[in-house]
Amino acid sequence: MIEFLRQVPLFAKLNEDQLNLIAGICSKKAVRSGTILFREKEPGSIFYVVYMGSVKIFTSNSAGEEKMLSLFKEGESFGELSLIDGKPRSATAQAMEDTILIALSADSFLEVMRNNFEITLGILQELSQRLRDTNQHVYDLTFLDARSRIIKNLIMLANKNGIRNGNLIVVRHPLNYDEISQMAGVQKNVLMQVMRDLTDKRIVTLGSNDFSLHLDRLRQPS
Ligand code: CMP
Repeated sequence: MIEFLRQVPLFAKLNEDQLNLIAGICSKKAVRSGTILFREKEPGSIFYVVYMGSVKIFTSNSAGEEKMLSLFKEGESFGELSLIDGKPRSATAQAMEDTILIALSADSFLEVMRNNFEITLGILQELSQRLRDTNQHVYDLTFLDARSRIIKNLIMLANKNGIRNGNLIVVRHPLNYDEISQMAGVQKNVLMQVMRDLTDKRIVTLGSNDFSLHLDRLRQPS
């Protein structure tokens, strides 16, 4: 546990004693793919760090349509907002594959924040980054066309999850077309059209649970 905590960006600046203290108050929780960890509007009681696997954060309307806000992977954390402001969960969290989490109760989380300025600063930096990402998303929705948004989101997925070999990036990820279209803010049929065009031009090649991005062809004018 200590070895993992040391690699979590939020805990990176803590010394051995502080890491031991956190290891002593958190617990590991294994969940199956598809498990809902909590739902939007519920009271918040736990802060999570992803130990292994991935978790999707999304909101939905009364018709059950979803909008994915983020995908968290190893070392990333979520569930802090409702613990800090005491308001209900701002979104739903769902495991995208069999996932192991590190869980910290609300009381422990707030105690750790109270006693460790480095962790509090880390949480503030994370919240700042999420606000910046949201601003960027609003900008993209306002000023970029659907095709550019899709390509941008494929590149973002590649940067986060891809393995690069020269001009080729192979990207393994747990998202389906519904989720990619929500991330890019486009209708699924528009995503399918653009993906068809990108695969026809061999800018993207599709595998069974991955895709490859050909950077040299992407750079060529269409
Ligand atoms: P909380 O509101 O407790 O529960 C849902 C969690 O999703 C929230 O805390 C944040 O950790 C996370 N979250 C909510 N909105 C976003 C967003 N726009 N981008 C990334 N993460 C978010």
